[in-house]
Amino acid sequence: MACNNRCWCTVISILAIITTVIVVCVYYTTPSDPSFTINDFYISALNLSDISSTTTTANQTIFFDMKLHNKNKAMGAYYDPVIFSYIPNIKLTFVVAEYTVPKFYQHNQKSKHVIETVTSHGVAPYNRTITSSVFKVEVLTKVGFTSPAYRKRRRVDVVANVRVSQTGEKDSKKGIKLFESGAGDGFGGLCMQIGLLILSTATILVIT
Ligand SMILES: *[C@@H]1O[C@H](CO)[C@@H](O)[C@H](O)[C@H]1NC(C)=O
Ligand SMILES: *[C@@H]1O[C@H](CO)[C@@H](O)[C@H](O)[C@H]1NC(C)=O
Ligand SMILES: *[C@@H]1O[C@H](CO)[C@@H](O)[C@H](O)[C@H]1NC(C)=O
Repeated sequence: MACNNRCWCTVISILAIITTVIVVCVYYTTPSDPSFTINDFYISALNLSDISSTTTTANQTIFFDMKLHNKNKAMGAYYDPVIFSYIPNIKLTFVVAEYTVPKFYQHNQKSKHVIETVTSHGVAPYNRTITSSVFKVEVLTKVGFTSPAYRKRRRVDVVANVRVSQTGEKDSKKGIKLFESGAGDGFGGLCMQIGLLILSTATILVIT
């Protein structure tokens, strides 16, 4: 089959449409997961200059400032209840404190600071001669987006190790960003499918 000018014109137009759709898909509709950052962390039971920290009545309350940020340019985020879990040592698996943020909606490019305290148990029997301890902080939730294609909430599971110094605070001044602990659900699959569908339709049009 020989292609005349009109035929090439069609092919080029179709390719242009495919490119546009893919670009739009990737840049405007594929959402990024929200990011979580620990800006502050303090537990007086691990503050060596606090006399009461050496007693069994040590204050085991954890004070924290966690930032939840929706970095998407054009999409709001629907959070399911967000669960923060505190594990007192990276070698352990038991949770000493758990805090839940009720479900909420967050506009695009907005941040929410959760500045709260949570009661913990099981931190005090710590060996206090060590110079620092490392907490594992885990965040578990599900997030959906305002884009019709991503209404279905997807699981978010992120963790960070927080080194706590002898003052009972996290030892770095910088915020600690949580990172993905497991495999994701595979975002962008829909765009890929749409792209392939258009591509195959275009191929059929060109052939016939
Ligand atoms: C640690 O405890 C001391 C003594 O109670 C207190 O002065 C200090 O402010 C505490 N450190 C922090 C970071 O709160
Ligand atoms: C225990 O520690 C928390 C967090 O640092 C603080 O908000 C609270 O006031 C303390 N409670 C007592 C009884 O000292
Ligand atoms: C605490 O840690 C120090 C130094 O690692 C060690 O010598 C000591 O035996 C430990 N004490 C307890 C009660 O585990």
